[in-house]
Amino acid sequence: MKAEILEYIKEIQETRIEKFKDTAAEVEQFRIKYLGKNGVMNQLFEQFKTVPNEQKKELGQALNQLKTAAQQKIEEFKNYVESKEESAHLHDLTMPTDFSELGSRHVLSVVMNEISEIFSRIGFTVAESVEIEDDWHLFSALNFPPDHPARDMQDTFFVEKEEGKQEVALRTHTSSVQVRVMENNKPPIRIIAPGRVFRNEAISARAHCIFHQVEALYVDKKVTFADLKQTLLYFAKEMFGEQTQIRLRPSYFPFTEPSAEMDISCNICGGKGCNICKGTGWLEILGCGMVDPNVLEACGIDSKQYSGFALGMGVERMAMLKYQIRDLRLYFENDLRFLKQFESII
Ligand code: DAH
Repeated sequence: MKAEILEYIKEIQETRIEKFKDTAAEVEQFRIKYLGKNGVMNQLFEQFKTVPNEQKKELGQALNQLKTAAQQKIEEFKNYVESKEESAHLHDLTMPTDFSELGSRHVLSVVMNEISEIFSRIGFTVAESVEIEDDWHLFSALNFPPDHPARDMQDTFFVEKEEGKQEVALRTHTSSVQVRVMENNKPPIRIIAPGRVFRNEAISARAHCIFHQVEALYVDKKVTFADLKQTLLYFAKEMFGEQTQIRLRPSYFPFTEPSAEMDISCNICGGKGCNICKGTGWLEILGCGMVDPNVLEACGIDSKQYSGFALGMGVERMAMLKYQIRDLRLYFENDLRFLKQFESII
């Protein structure tokens, strides 16, 4: 009887599930064969009852080994079947997927893209440039006088400011891109420059040390203030709606002459006066003007042959007015409750 038991143990240990053709059914057959009611184990146990007492210890141990071997094998089969099922699940490309949350663009990107898109419809292309800029491109070529406050540490983050060396700073405005484009291209030039700018300001609901601007520049023969005005009106209507009106107020920028600031009719109260427009019915939107001939010359463009207009606007302010956002800090805090409100905007 012992030889018979050992033979069965060997048989069990040598059984390979990989050889099964109908795995689930054959695993069950295997179980019935060894551990079923009329299976090998029970039959041997019946025989065991009749063996002489002196053999019982040895045969009992062998029978236990047989039972353990069969149980272990069945356990091994089950694990094998389970892991097969799992990997089949992983590779089943027809299975419905779990719902994954959709991300969305940041509202500032949405607004910047929208501005770029409006200008691209009238022939402007996007120009990008460096965020760490030298004095020439930030100030000198743009006709800033040597003692202009923007050149002061209090307004500008200087990276290098040493006697006798070209000063280097984080750009304070995207107007520096105008200079780079004019230096490297011949008119006609029609670009917009969206990008990040930096100023040494205390962070509050109305100011931040990092923000975004979009600059536009058009240089060609016979560009006039009328072209600027038409472009501004077109932009305001596309951005804030057909009913939008604009007005220009005289202003001053070193790089434009004449210069102006543009207001739009308040899109919240429709011009009647509310707390957003402080009762005036108008909202200040951007700075603009005709490119100063000194700037054209500094960039190697003949100011007798060519003229141009430029404009620059703050993206945070645009988004505030468009979506009635009251606090600038919300843009940078990454609070999902804020960000998710723009989820449906592409
Ligand atoms: N660079 C100006 C600023 O940061 C904005 C600006 C005003 C840009 C007038 C222009 C312009 O191109 O013509 O405040």
